[in-house]
Amino acid sequence: MTGMSDGRPILGGATVRRMRTSDVPAVAELEGVLFAEQPWSARMLTDELTLPGRYYLVAVGGAGGTASGGAIVGYGGLADFGVEAHIMTLGVRTDWQRAGLGGRLLAGLLAEADRRQVHQVLLEVAVDNAAARRLYTRAGFRPVGVRKGYYEATGTDAVVMARG
Ligand SMILES: CC(C)(COP(=O)(O)OP(=O)(O)OC[C@H]1O[C@@H](n2cnc3c(N)ncnc32)[C@H](O)[C@@H]1OP(=O)(O)O)[C@@H](O)C(=O)NCCC(=O)NCCS
Repeated sequence: MTGMSDGRPILGGATVRRMRTSDVPAVAELEGVLFAEQPWSARMLTDELTLPGRYYLVAVGGAGGTASGGAIVGYGGLADFGVEAHIMTLGVRTDWQRAGLGGRLLAGLLAEADRRQVHQVLLEVAVDNAAARRLYTRAGFRPVGVRKGYYEATGTDAVVMARG
């Protein structure tokens, strides 16, 4: 991160770009921290990148924000299934949270759904994940259902949210 303002990182140094296979180890490490109870493995992330209709972004921070320099501080993925698209994952490194980066990544994924003219976008979010639910609500998502025990590791229910 390049600096702090009001306890939050300044985002001037973060660059959002498409995820590459070479980013997978860093993304998997971040995934392991953010989703410690049920993280996606490096293998799963690599497989995701090769599947049709996938669009994954990373946020690169620090070192002036050059794509070649800084660390991966956020990531997110969209899967286009034709009639609908899903937000597959979204995460921001703890020390970069609450500074607009999650919103920026989500906006990038939704812009891609719009480019593909897939206007129905769905996602699952843990019922107790207030931060993510608020972020999605602010981005225009509304709850449309509940999947009981969706997160197997904890038995936590997921709220299904939809946009469009
Ligand atoms: C959810 C997550 C991606 C948000 O990333 P972020 O970069 O902090 O999000 P933003 O700074 O863009 O926040 C946008 C809005 O989301 C809401 N929000 C984000 N973090 C919040 C928090 N801790 N508490 C309450 N609201 C929060 C707020 O409405 C915020 O807007 P505001 O700061 O103007 O009030 C991040 O908290 C994260 O990685 N969490 C762990 C992984 C996770 O749960 N991912 C979602 C899985 S479905």
